[in-house]
Amino acid sequence: MRRALVLHHTQQLFILLAGLLAAPALVSAAPIPARGAAWAQACAACHGPDGQSQGAIPALDRLSPEDFRAAMQAFRTEERQGTVMNQIAKGLSETDVEAVTTYFATMQPRRQQ
Ligand code: HEC
Repeated sequence: MRRALVLHHTQQLFILLAGLLAAPALVSAAPIPARGAAWAQACAACHGPDGQSQGAIPALDRLSPEDFRAAMQAFRTEERQGTVMNQIAKGLSETDVEAVTTYFATMQPRRQQ
């Protein structure tokens, strides 16, 4: 049954194969946005959804990617002393910082509205 299907749908099979061959490229491109979004979920507990904090904790959607990255690095190196962010920033690898910076950078156009 399956064989007959494949034979009768050679074109679909070809498309499927082409899709499978293209997949590795997609997979290698995916981790950064996925990682950034995953971290942003953790940040949302304090900074609000998509970093749009309304309370005392600073909003993250107002920072430029440069300032965001610099703040994270400063927390990691203790150059900047925070209450909780030093510990949190140290829990992120360089790749995590890049991923989360990139993620929040996509939030930026929203603040200009
Ligand atoms: C437990 C609450 C909490 C969580 C979770 C949290 N933050 Fe923060 N964040 C703060 C507080 C409070 C500050 C102000 C500095 C301080 O006291 O540590 C801050 C400050 C910052 C700043 C500097 C903002 C500015 O305007 O200078 C950045 C950047 C930041 N956080 C990023 C993150 C990222 C990225 C995550 C997720 C990986 C995260 N935070 C998770 C509470 C939190």
